[in-house]
Amino acid sequence: MAAGPEGAAPKVTTATLRAMKARGERIAALTCYDHLFAGLLDQAGVDVLLVGDSVATVMQGRDSTVPVTMDQMVYHCELVTRGAARALVVGDLPFLSYQVSIEDALRNAGRLMKEGQVEAVKLEGGREFVPTVARLCAAGIPVMGHLGLTPQSIHQFGTYKTRGTDAAEQDALVEDAVALADAGAFAIVLEKVPAALGKRMAEAVPVPIIGIGAGPHTDGQILVTADMLGMFTRFQPRFVRRYRELATEIGQAIGEYCKDVRDGGFPSDAESY
Ligand code: KIV
Repeated sequence: MAAGPEGAAPKVTTATLRAMKARGERIAALTCYDHLFAGLLDQAGVDVLLVGDSVATVMQGRDSTVPVTMDQMVYHCELVTRGAARALVVGDLPFLSYQVSIEDALRNAGRLMKEGQVEAVKLEGGREFVPTVARLCAAGIPVMGHLGLTPQSIHQFGTYKTRGTDAAEQDALVEDAVALADAGAFAIVLEKVPAALGKRMAEAVPVPIIGIGAGPHTDGQILVTADMLGMFTRFQPRFVRRYRELATEIGQAIGEYCKDVRDGGFPSDAESY
């Protein structure tokens, strides 16, 4: 890990993650979209904060991640990077910000780094993006890959079902992971595939495979924070473990507040001037 300010925990870098894999230490990653949560997650010891394009479904009320824009991603990245001291902050390149041309990818990844201040970017897709990944890396932009279920392609696949369920698709995913790692990707998110494939892919590449619904054998795990805190309850994929039921607790707290306001119980003398 790189040295941080005196007394502060050392900053997590892409090199830290590689070293963690080499030592067999698991990486704990979560999504984050704002400054408040960035501080909470960072202080709780999360290694990687992903400013995911899932902000579209979780925070913007969209049906998929497709509509979120570059400007919106830059904005959320900037909020998160101002709140995180230790964690590596990765910004998601949104749909069509990197697929049209390598020049677009470079310009947009550069915006996430220069304006959003992230330390790395993530893009979805396999060997077809090898030239893009190589060019970004050559420009000094660390790239995290994303294989398996790739939500930006939902309209092409038509379903969020498990990926890599037959031998041909499994072999193709392993080849994609090797190609991305060879092109310079420092880590790869692997979403919704059988656990055995998660294990095979983690063994196939020297860079960390960070699983979400990819079983227990990957080099790390990532979840959407609002899912694991029980705040986002519209649906619950099987791979989500809810560590709290905050939607219920928040509802109770707000209900108590409304009652106190209405019956004069809030504010008290101690809460008044
Ligand atoms: O956008 C996102 O939140 C993601 C995670 C699900 C890995 O890509």
